[in-house]
Amino acid sequence: MPFFAARNVTVRFGGLTALEDVDLTINHSEIVGLIGPNGAGKTTLFNCISGTQRCDRGRIVFNGRDITRLPPHLRGRLGLGRTFQTVKLFPDLTVEENLLLGCHVRMGTGVFSDGLHLPRSSRAQQRAVAEAGELLDFLGLRPIARRRAAELPLGQQRLVEIGRALATKPSLLLLDEATSGISKNETGELVQLLRSVRSAYRLSLLVVEHDIALVMNLCDFVYVLNFGRILAAGSPAEVRRDPAVVEAYLGHVAEAAEPAPAVVVS
Ligand SMILES: Nc1ncnc2c1ncn2[C@@H]1O[C@H](COP(=O)(O)OP(=O)(O)OP(=O)(O)O)[C@@H](O)[C@H]1O
Ligand SMILES: [Mg+2]
Repeated sequence: MPFFAARNVTVRFGGLTALEDVDLTINHSEIVGLIGPNGAGKTTLFNCISGTQRCDRGRIVFNGRDITRLPPHLRGRLGLGRTFQTVKLFPDLTVEENLLLGCHVRMGTGVFSDGLHLPRSSRAQQRAVAEAGELLDFLGLRPIARRRAAELPLGQQRLVEIGRALATKPSLLLLDEATSGISKNETGELVQLLRSVRSAYRLSLLVVEHDIALVMNLCDFVYVLNFGRILAAGSPAEVRRDPAVVEAYLGHVAEAAEPAPAVVVS
């Protein structure tokens, strides 16, 4: 069994079939992209994987366990981390405190039981501070560690959110439109960062994106959804050449520029 597998995933909203018999596989240390036009079912599939959407049919297996019926927080404990399309940080906490939250969630020394301001002597807090410190350095956030999350530009908020997800030590990280609302420069930096995240933390990534150029650049394997079905799956080069994809999705883009057009389809 692969590291992660969704099999025959089907979701209906009343009379509308949002996903039908969708199969998606992710291997260890692989970066997988999920693209598709508006309404194709990307978010619905992402939610099935993270556990906020129930599947009407199908199975989801992660690390040898069937997680189809597990709630999101238990999936998190098994190593499934995620970010949100709309950044969800604690706006009044500092960057460092937001990262500490992720560490405490993993260590089971939740803020809710202990409070954030544990005495420095607390071992759990010392460990969390050390781990958050490593993440601050890794993500280049040390200079803004004491700034409130709400004061930061969106690009930096997204980095903090990725940091908080990494603090939970996921083995599979799900990214929901991590580039939405950030500049082209920041997108380029994010690609570099995600590559180093993969090697430094030895995790797999599933990247749901509107930004085709980013997906083609970053991913080892790409799935294209269309009307709730997998239209194509393969390496970025294979997918870009696939006639069905060109017709349904990339047509005007492929003509416009090669090899990786910077077109945002939303
Ligand atoms: N909660 C819901 N209730 C009813 N219909 C829904 C619900 N969520 C999604 N849909 C419908 O399911 C289909 C797939 O939606 P989904 O949001 O998964 O697409 P998407 O690929 O993420 O689109 P976008 O690129 O616009 O984000 C769409 O037709 C959408 O209108
Ligand atoms: Mg969506």
